[in-house]
Amino acid sequence: MISQNSIQQIQSQIDIIDIIGSFIKLKKRGANYLGNCPFHHEKTPSFTVSPSKEIYKCFGCGKSGNAIGFVMDHEKYSYVEALRWLANKYNIELEETETSPEFKAIQLTSDSLFIINNFAKDFFSNALLNTEEGTDIALSYLKERGFNSQTIEKFQLGYNPSTKDAFTKAAIEGQYNKDLLIKTGLVVSRDEKLMDNYRSRIIFPIHNQSGKILGFGARIIKSNDKAPKYINTPENEIYIKSKILYGSYFARTAIDKADECLLVEGYTDVVSLHQAGIENVVASGGTSLTIDQLRLIKKYTKNLTIIYDGDSAGIKAALRGLDLALEEGLDVKLVLIPDKEDPDSYVNKIGAAEFIDFVKTEKKDFILFQLEIALKDAGNDSSKKSAIINQIAETISKINKTEDFTKRQDYIKKVSELLKVEESGFNALVNKVIREKINKEEFKNTKPNIDFSETDNFQQPEIEISDLLTKDELHEQALVRSLLEFGMKDWDDKQKVADYFFNYYDELEDLIDNKKLVTIINLYRTLYREDEEPTVKNFLYNEDKELNELIIKIMDVQSEISPKWKEHYEGHIPTREELYKEEVLSTMNYLQLRKIKRLILENQEEMQRTADSNEQMICMQTHQHLKKLESEITKKIGTVIYK
Ligand code: GTP
Ligand code: MN
Repeated sequence: MISQNSIQQIQSQIDIIDIIGSFIKLKKRGANYLGNCPFHHEKTPSFTVSPSKEIYKCFGCGKSGNAIGFVMDHEKYSYVEALRWLANKYNIELEETETSPEFKAIQLTSDSLFIINNFAKDFFSNALLNTEEGTDIALSYLKERGFNSQTIEKFQLGYNPSTKDAFTKAAIEGQYNKDLLIKTGLVVSRDEKLMDNYRSRIIFPIHNQSGKILGFGARIIKSNDKAPKYINTPENEIYIKSKILYGSYFARTAIDKADECLLVEGYTDVVSLHQAGIENVVASGGTSLTIDQLRLIKKYTKNLTIIYDGDSAGIKAALRGLDLALEEGLDVKLVLIPDKEDPDSYVNKIGAAEFIDFVKTEKKDFILFQLEIALKDAGNDSSKKSAIINQIAETISKINKTEDFTKRQDYIKKVSELLKVEESGFNALVNKVIREKINKEEFKNTKPNIDFSETDNFQQPEIEISDLLTKDELHEQALVRSLLEFGMKDWDDKQKVADYFFNYYDELEDLIDNKKLVTIINLYRTLYREDEEPTVKNFLYNEDKELNELIIKIMDVQSEISPKWKEHYEGHIPTREELYKEEVLSTMNYLQLRKIKRLILENQEEMQRTADSNEQMICMQTHQHLKKLESEITKKIGTVIYK
């Protein structure tokens, strides 16, 4: 237990901006600070910190609290762990009363692993710089590769001597616990004897965000078919591979400054680029990026530039992480290093200035790059091409946050150009993929027993690429069609469908983009008010040629009921006549949802424009309100789906 005295001391020193600012990027806006909320996905900041009130509040997800609560939630710490973290940050010595034995044990293990790693780092560093074997074999190797003393010192590189237990012996002499030594991966037990695991290897310490050593990468010096090139620390209490990006400790300020994070594969790539003065760089270790790694990057920037050698397996691994990156709202670019080179060898070959230039000119949009490669591959094979179209629609559909709408439309435009297909047709396809996903979610929620996996096979091209109708247009048309077809049917015992419809009359202008469709509704209303019973025929032969064509088109549009909907029913499949109310409701809901999404976007743009903190507060409240409406409508939406 931490004494009350210590707790008070911590509380008196807390600076909420300093504390939260060490985890996320905060910008001053009026009296408050604003940043991207770390507790939910967002691209437009709605996370607000008030230094005077010493609290934070996110207007996006509603989370709020004080500085200690923030550290607890963000780092997944208990209250006591958060206090320890704060005490450490502010150099406050903690007065302890009693501690629970379990907690003490975990704390002790982690602390001990850090201590052993630090001891090991010093040992390996000394072995590299101050022993004959080290300088002859390892230091000369590093120098030959072009690493200078400053770089070696900065990255705390080291060498594990070839003697089978050089490090183990030193560690045992230093009274370090055997089991813990094995846990660090530095020491292994063979035939009940302890020996060094990284014999004759160059040691790369791997640091956490505050510079403490989590583990190591150990590279063999003379390549050997039997031994792996690198050995890494096994997972333990502090080395959690999925959360680690090599170099992030050295790169964080540079990433912040450049508003860009360069991602490379290897340890040596990071070190060489640093030495060349390019410091906003981290390494993934050649595996696909995990969500935790992406979030770590996103704390500093949304611009991720992957720099890989063209023929590496790492490219494929990185591609696998692309969808996750898009969902996180990152902008991903790609730079390919020429044949047989990697960033390390290439920067050594052409020099820093040219390398920077190369990155700048060769930087390609990752999605478009992927498409170009696939298209080249497909040649004239039309079935391959349609598979590509579906694949890329699937990828683009991942850019699905409201605030990324413009970005998505931009991709749709560029991709249509590359594919040489109609933009509106491709747009329809992307919307379809998105809708199907939403439906899948909703149907999952309402009818957990029905499996739609077969009907949602995205591999099968279902929309004609030449189809010029967008999904949104289809819904607008469907709404008008249901009025024309079913307007005179009963809505309930008091009103007809048309009456129900015209309750929304004032809103219709806002809901329907196509003004010709609004004209049709107005014509209908005029007739209806003159006590007539409008039918489709009233509209089919209009003077206005365009209007006429539109009506014909509407009535011509295939209005098939979705197979998913059919699966709801056993035996009798209802006709549109029987489902007319649902049809009106669902199209209305769809268009209302679209309107709300647009309002959210507008509001977010407004929020970005204004620097006035009161106005921002209003925007945030509006945002919250709109989000609530959005989720209400989303719940109601869509039993009848138009293809
Ligand atoms: P150099 O060849 O010294 O320039 O190292 P590099 O970092 O360029 O290595 P490479 O491009 O072959 O591999 C990239 C990264 O993948 C490395 O930095 C390691 O993180 C990882 N890696 C490579 N080989 C192995 C291996 O044999 N085992 C494990 N666990 N990881 C490896
Ligand atoms: Mn290399």
